[in-house]
Amino acid sequence: MKEVCVLGLGYIGLPTASVLATNGFKVVGVDVSQRVVDTVNEGNIHIEEPGLQTVVRAAIGSGNLRAAREPEAADVFIIAVPTPLTARKTADMSYVTRAAESIVPLLRAGVLVILESTSPPGTCRDLLRPILERSGLSVGKEIHLAHCPERVLPGKILKELIHNDRVIGGYDRAAARKARDLYARFVDGELFLTDATTAEMVKILENTYRDVNIALANEVAVLCERLGIDFWECAQLANRHPRVAVHRAGPGVGGHCISIDPWFLVEKFPDDAAMVRLARQRNDSMPTHVVRRVRDLLGDLQDPKIAVLGQAYKGNVDDIRESPAVHVVDLLKAEGLRCAVYDPHVKKGPHELVSLEECLHDADLLLVLTAHDEFKYLNPRQVARQMRTNLLLDTHNVLEHEDWTLAGFRVAVLGVGAAVNA
Ligand SMILES: NC(=O)c1ccc[n+]([C@@H]2O[C@H](COP(=O)([O-])OP(=O)(O)OC[C@H]3O[C@@H](n4cnc5c(N)ncnc54)[C@H](O)[C@@H]3O)[C@@H](O)[C@H]2O)c1
Repeated sequence: MKEVCVLGLGYIGLPTASVLATNGFKVVGVDVSQRVVDTVNEGNIHIEEPGLQTVVRAAIGSGNLRAAREPEAADVFIIAVPTPLTARKTADMSYVTRAAESIVPLLRAGVLVILESTSPPGTCRDLLRPILERSGLSVGKEIHLAHCPERVLPGKILKELIHNDRVIGGYDRAAARKARDLYARFVDGELFLTDATTAEMVKILENTYRDVNIALANEVAVLCERLGIDFWECAQLANRHPRVAVHRAGPGVGGHCISIDPWFLVEKFPDDAAMVRLARQRNDSMPTHVVRRVRDLLGDLQDPKIAVLGQAYKGNVDDIRESPAVHVVDLLKAEGLRCAVYDPHVKKGPHELVSLEECLHDADLLLVLTAHDEFKYLNPRQVARQMRTNLLLDTHNVLEHEDWTLAGFRVAVLGVGAAVNA
């Protein structure tokens, strides 16, 4: 295994292609976007990820990585294309289908095809196998097929790509062993071998576990508000139990994984995955809850302006896919409320982004929707001077509320019954 063709140069494919290249493989990174191909070939990156620029530059500089629009013959094909949701909350497998179809003419005996995209259980068996066999070769005989899901955390992708344990699911045992030999070249974590459908389910289980846990936190946070107590104190105390790990509440769940993957189970098992569906619905209801809290805080202020901090789906990344922060602004605007939106990481989004100064100027309510570090370091007194009314709603419980209260803010926190200093 010397030559690797990676399909999709996004958050997963680009770091993977670069790390393979810096570990001695000859890698062609394929993307349907000419902009992505040009950017990578210049040694630059089109996404924000700490350390990635350096690794891509090193990979391109070594001559081991090259980007192209079309796949090329290789010993290994890695598919890392998107698997988003359709409007009907079903898995959109069209990218995986097209990527698989694009390599069919290049397949030859002994080749290894790895699906890294998160996919509904059964994808390798029911979707990929028939496509790959259009080559005239058999999966399980001439073609080795495996699913090796990614579990990296955006913001720490390069570290986790190397140090995380990995699950390697082979269509058959030989495929699993071949895929293990590839990952062993750059992964420090343990490699666990299983079958492809189990590996597909493991990935969905991981994200569903987190979605359900966050839904529980969100639900209890809403209950705490109604009880007039503090969810954050409850969770902290409950987590002192040796076998309890309550997740954080917040304005909802976003990103390309946790807010999407559980639907793959609901789609496949609409009756039996009832709890999974309910958790999704609870998390999807949080933006509406945030808007209700905003309305309560604004009371009868005339023509209020909301200074929105954050559009990314989580702190310190530029990713706005499925971001609840975007959805909150959609809802606020739909209610005719004026919003000025600032995000130091996001370059472009569906809502116009303004400078911090413009965002705060004459605003009435500061609404923290993303836990970026930059927001924790804001000077409350300085912000207070720029705003017209000093209201604050912290939907992530990340600011130093005492400092903001001392600066004259009326502070409200998601999950806390009444304004902290009311
Ligand atoms: N982003 C994460 O943190 C993360 C973590 C774990 C798993 N995953 C999974 O990995 C997969 C990829 O996610 P991502 O975040 O890297 O997506 P992404 O959108 O960042 O990148 C995907 C890239 O694939 C390209 N592409 C689309 N169709 C193609 C084709 N036929 N051939 C070649 N390129 C094509 C797109 O232009 C895009 O640049 C998804 O299934 C996702 O669920 C993502």
